[in-house]
Amino acid sequence: MSPSETPSATPSDAGAAAPLILVLHGARGDLSRRLVLPSLATLHERGLLPDRWALLGTGRESMSREDFVGHVRSALEEFGHEGTTDDDVDALTRHSRFTDEVRADGDGGGLPAALDQVRRELTETEALAEGDQEPAARTLGPEDVVVVHYLAIPPQGFAPLTEAMGAQGLAVGPDGRHETVRIVYEKPYGTSPESFRELDAVVHEVFEEDQVFRIDHFLGKEATQNLHVMRFANDLFSSVWDRHHVEQVQIDVPETLDVAQRAEFYDATGAALDMVVSHLFQVAGQVAMEPPRHLAVSDLVRAREDAIGDFRPLDPVNDVVLGQFEGYQDIEGVREGSTTDTFIAARLWIDNERWRDVPFLLRTGKRMAASAQRVTLVLRRDPVHLFGDEVPAGAISLSLAGDGEIALTTAVKKPGPDLDLARGTATMLLDDVTPGEPLPAYASLMHDVLQGDRTLFTTPIGLEAAWRTFEPLLGEDRPDPLPYAPGSWGPAAADELAAPHGWVLGRQ
Ligand code: BG6
Repeated sequence: MSPSETPSATPSDAGAAAPLILVLHGARGDLSRRLVLPSLATLHERGLLPDRWALLGTGRESMSREDFVGHVRSALEEFGHEGTTDDDVDALTRHSRFTDEVRADGDGGGLPAALDQVRRELTETEALAEGDQEPAARTLGPEDVVVVHYLAIPPQGFAPLTEAMGAQGLAVGPDGRHETVRIVYEKPYGTSPESFRELDAVVHEVFEEDQVFRIDHFLGKEATQNLHVMRFANDLFSSVWDRHHVEQVQIDVPETLDVAQRAEFYDATGAALDMVVSHLFQVAGQVAMEPPRHLAVSDLVRAREDAIGDFRPLDPVNDVVLGQFEGYQDIEGVREGSTTDTFIAARLWIDNERWRDVPFLLRTGKRMAASAQRVTLVLRRDPVHLFGDEVPAGAISLSLAGDGEIALTTAVKKPGPDLDLARGTATMLLDDVTPGEPLPAYASLMHDVLQGDRTLFTTPIGLEAAWRTFEPLLGEDRPDPLPYAPGSWGPAAADELAAPHGWVLGRQ
C-alpha cells in the first residue's frame, strides 16, 4: 500500500473505525474456501479488521446460518493456519449470515434486506459501546458502514451480477453516497480486449471507478511491493536500474503444477491468458516504472501503468514460443486436438529511454521442472574492466514466492590462494526483516480494499495497454504450441529467446 496517504474507511469523520460488512458473493466456491476466508481470518488474527464487522455470504442456493458457520469452519481448517480454534470461527461468523444471491432477473434475493439489518446491528452496537446507556454524541449511523462486495464467482457472472446490483441500488449506501461501497473483481477481468471493454462498460454504468478494485494477486506479494521500495529507497539499486547497467530482465514463473483439477477452465484459457496478460505484465510494469513524482496512490499507479503503456505489441513470430506438455490432451476435460498453450516464453520490448533494447523475458508454464517466481535483472559487464571477460555477470533478483526474498549476485574472489573470480550471492529473506511479519498476497490486498487504498490494483488504462500489447498473440500469427516433456524446462526453442545468457532458472 501507499505510505504517504492515510486512507480512510469512509470520507466522513468515521475514519478507519467505521464498521465493515464484507459481502462474499460465491461464498461456497473454491476461491472463497481457499483464499478469501483464510485471508479474512489472517487479517482478524493480526488485528487488521475494524472492531465491528460482519461477513455476509451469498450463493445460488440458500444455506442456514448453522451450515454457513460449518462451511467457514471447514474452510479455515483445511486452508487456514494450523490450529484453527472456535474463537477464530466465531470471529468470522459472529454477525454472519448467508443469503440468496442477487439475481440477474432483478430479484435482490435476501441481500438488500440483510444488508440493512446488519448495517443497523453494527451501528447499534457502536452506540451502546460508546455511550454505555447513553448514545455517544457522535455515533455512527448505518450510512457510515463500509460495504465491500467481493465477487468470488465465475467470471461470466461478473457483468450480470454487477447489473443486478445496480438495479437493486446496492452500488450506493443508504444515504445515496457511493464512497462507502466498494466492489472487488477477481481475475480474469475480461478474456480478450473486447470482453474486457464490455465488462468495464457495464461496471462503469453501475460503479464509479474509485469504488472498483480489480485484483491481481501478484501485485500484493511482499517481494513485488519491494520492487518499488528497494529501488526508490536505495541509490544502490536506483542508480543501476536502466539499459546502461541491465542487459536483460527475466520474469520467470515455472510451475510443476498440473491442470487436471481445472482442465476445462484451463483448456479454454491457456498459460498466456492465465498468467501473462495479467500477472507477468503487471510485474513487468513494476520493474519498468519510472520514479513517480510522489508516493501518492495515483502517482504509483500511473507510473506502473505508463510503463505498461510503453510495452511494444508482442511479435508472435519472432518473440513468442508456446508449448504444450506431452500427455496434456489425454486429460479429462481437455478438448480433442486442443492447441491450448500450457507454456509460454515471450520477449517483450519497452520503447522508452530507460529500457530501449533491453529484452524483458517472460516465461511460465505448467508441469515444468521446478516451481519458482523469480524476477532477475541480469547486469551488464564492463568490457574494459580490469578483469575483462573473466567477470561473471551479476544480477539483482527477487523471489516473489511465499514471503519473498531479495538476492544480489556479484563477482567475488574465489576463496583460496589464487586471484580467480567466482559468482557469489547474498540473499535476504523478507520474513527475516525485523520488525515486521509478511502478509500473504490476498490478505494484503484485501486489507488495502478495506482501507480504500488502490495502489496495488489495476485500472482500465493499464489493462487497455496490457491488451494492446497482448492482442497480436490472439490473431492468426499465434504460433503453434511445441511439445515438451513434463518435468522439463519447456520447448528448446524458448532457450534461444533468452540468448546470450539463457534463462537464469534451470541453468546448470
Ligand atoms: C493464478 C493462476 O492466478 O495464479 C494459476 O490462475 C497460478 O494458474 C496461480 O498457478 C499462481 O498463484 P500463486 O499463489 O502460486 O502465486
